[in-house]
Amino acid sequence: MNNQLFELHEYISNVLRQIPSILESIENLEISNKASYRDLVTVADKKIEKYLKESILKKCPNHQFLGEESFEKGKDYYAEDLWIIDPIDGTTNFVKQGENFCTMLSYFKDDEPMLAYVYDIKKDILYSSIKGYGVYQNNKKLEKPKDKSLKDSLISTDIRRMQKNQPEFFDFLVQNAFSVRVLGSSGLDGINVITGKLGGYIHYYAGAWDFSPFFLMASEMGLSFTDFSGKTLRHTNPSSFIIACPSLHSEVIEYINQ
Ligand code: IPD
Ligand code: CA
Ligand code: CA
Repeated sequence: MNNQLFELHEYISNVLRQIPSILESIENLEISNKASYRDLVTVADKKIEKYLKESILKKCPNHQFLGEESFEKGKDYYAEDLWIIDPIDGTTNFVKQGENFCTMLSYFKDDEPMLAYVYDIKKDILYSSIKGYGVYQNNKKLEKPKDKSLKDSLISTDIRRMQKNQPEFFDFLVQNAFSVRVLGSSGLDGINVITGKLGGYIHYYAGAWDFSPFFLMASEMGLSFTDFSGKTLRHTNPSSFIIACPSLHSEVIEYINQ
């Protein structure tokens, strides 16, 4: 299995690194709205998802997909070999800033996370993980982040939805953290926890594709990754989530459960 997994990892890394040239080839982004005024989608989101599926199928013809742009509500996404795709995470940043967006991709075998990727497209930095081998930033193996308390940590959260749906919890976080820094890409905000720049990232209700690489990356880095009540997440289901250092995570869960 290991050799096969390493070979697949090499292939996928190369597939992801072609994404900048796909973006360059798009002449008209055709920006449109999905569920609401602030929920944007572009031709690039759809093209990248299609490209990833086609590339994976060339290598693994029987594998299945749960992709943001082709997601069907109510469908049972269990599969022996499942890939979860967020083709562009941070589409708002992509459209309005031209930076701070990424591709998220992960592979689950019999519900176990085996491979995980967050590709910062603009900076050409690939964060990757193979089960049992830690997390890499391009070719550099990352150190496990130091454990931190809420009081000593920068944190990130999805401000609008948290403030609206969890106002007391939101207030607790903002008032008790060292400070708050928000990028607007759950992939890159989560990576900032993996690399130790943030102590935690707390996100109200998100799609499965918004957090799928963190099952593997959090466990490889000794971080806690759960829903708001401290329970293990299901990789095919939408959920609120926290990825954080163990101490910060315990403080937050204790606050919620009090
Ligand atoms: C969004 C971003 C954003 C988060 C939203 C996500 P998208 O993903 O990750 O930071 O707050 O909940 O939907 O729509 O750009 O893929
Ligand atoms: Ca997303
Ligand atoms: Ca997306």
